Amino acid sequence: MVATQKNPLLDGLQIRRMPDPCALVIFGASGDLTQKKLFPALYSLAFRNLLPDRFAVVGVARTEETDDDFKARMKEAVQKYSRDEFRDDVWDKLAEGMRYVPTDFADDSGENHVAEVLNELDEERKLGGNRVYYLAIPPSVFPTVVTALGKRRSTEGWTRLIVEKPFGHDLESAQELSAAIQEHFTEDEVFRIDHYLGKETVQNMLALRFANGIFEPIWNRQFIDHVQITVAESIGIEARAGYYEAAGAIRDIFQNHLLQLLAITAMEPPIDFTAESVRNEKVKVLRSLHTPGPKSIVRGQYGRGFVEGEEVRGYREEDGVDPRSMTETFVAAKLYVDNWRWADTPFYVRMGKRLARRETTIAIQFKRAPHPPFEEAAADGLRPNVLLVHIQPDEGVSLAIGAKVPGQGMTIRTVHMDFLYGGAFRTGMPEAYERLILDCMLGDATLFTRTDEVEEQWKLVDAIVAAWKRDRPSFPNYAGGTWGPASADELLHRDGRSWRRH
Ligand code: BG6
Repeated sequence: MVATQKNPLLDGLQIRRMPDPCALVIFGASGDLTQKKLFPALYSLAFRNLLPDRFAVVGVARTEETDDDFKARMKEAVQKYSRDEFRDDVWDKLAEGMRYVPTDFADDSGENHVAEVLNELDEERKLGGNRVYYLAIPPSVFPTVVTALGKRRSTEGWTRLIVEKPFGHDLESAQELSAAIQEHFTEDEVFRIDHYLGKETVQNMLALRFANGIFEPIWNRQFIDHVQITVAESIGIEARAGYYEAAGAIRDIFQNHLLQLLAITAMEPPIDFTAESVRNEKVKVLRSLHTPGPKSIVRGQYGRGFVEGEEVRGYREEDGVDPRSMTETFVAAKLYVDNWRWADTPFYVRMGKRLARRETTIAIQFKRAPHPPFEEAAADGLRPNVLLVHIQPDEGVSLAIGAKVPGQGMTIRTVHMDFLYGGAFRTGMPEAYERLILDCMLGDATLFTRTDEVEEQWKLVDAIVAAWKRDRPSFPNYAGGTWGPASADELLHRDGRSWRRH
């Protein structure tokens, strides 16, 4: 029998450096994020031999649990949520370096206990004192934990801090948090997560724009009519009422994921792909953003409806939600980027829960041809060219162009040129957290947000929230399973435009 060799090209090129030996300490290890995202990501990294040989993971949380219980729970989580097949040898190697420390974050002796375990691991596994502290904890306990970590910094090796969102609740609280961090850590030791930046398709936006010669010359106000960014989710708030009631769509998605997508779409080409250069360009976009006025921001809250054929509750009926809640679950806005490239070009953005479908897209709509000789012959009303970037799902890029319908006469119809990740690349899509955890271990902050970016994002959100205080919309104003309130459609109709057809 002839043995078939695996084609090495299908694995893609492994050109990345291997991180230094280190310990990853997860604060908030009993939470959903650790089970659903962090451990599956660590497992996938281990599966591909991307973790250093000398590595340890310490889970820290309030729940009383033994090392073995913790390992068993995380094993189950990996089996359930990982994108890779489960292999005992991969798991056993990862589990060897796993520890769990039950402690109250606010308790000083708890921090000592974490330090003891880390020292033991340093001895045992020769980690060189290198630490990644992952803070997946509520912002209210950040300062206590950051101060404790700062005071007990290892004298050897490097220390890095990964901070989960939300980074503050407004500009003031974000600045307080930054001040607490800066007392003990330098900016290049802080890695603020916006997991959208870890998504392959978001990074591909940079490749699309800056690795191709054909887009950049037309990527501006002269050729682009407007941009539409959609972050639609069909899920509701799941079991997160406590968090969501205080956050709403504006803090949950707009302040971070949405504005980052916009910044990447609108930024100038960076001089290189280093953290400083990329973030310098993004922050300029965030600084130049403005909304023309309160009428350009629409908010909504879902009522009962049907999503994918199933009846769903209204937001106010969700467990833990105030029955008179005024929290928004949908935001649509018209934004302008005040610079030479984009002046007067609207960026329409919308995001919400319980919408008709899960879909994140960036649509670049070009101006119509200046003199269309075939106008009358267009079969379905020839639409302008649109470059549609599918961030998720159905990851890919699609260009809408006019083409002649075969046959007599000159009938034109819109057709699509598609690139689909699934078809072009034979490897699966890595999860955002795999990339981000590895980048932090390598000390590469390009895909993390810098303090000035976060502050600019909050400035815009604070202004919007302040304007909202002046009126009280009647909620709920859209049925679950639709595309949001009618006012979101009016926002574009007023400008003679409409949201992209689905
Ligand atoms: C999180 C939000 O940051 O992003 C959630 O808190 C949201 O409310 C999630 O559901 C969406 O992420 P993704 O990767 O599923 O698009």
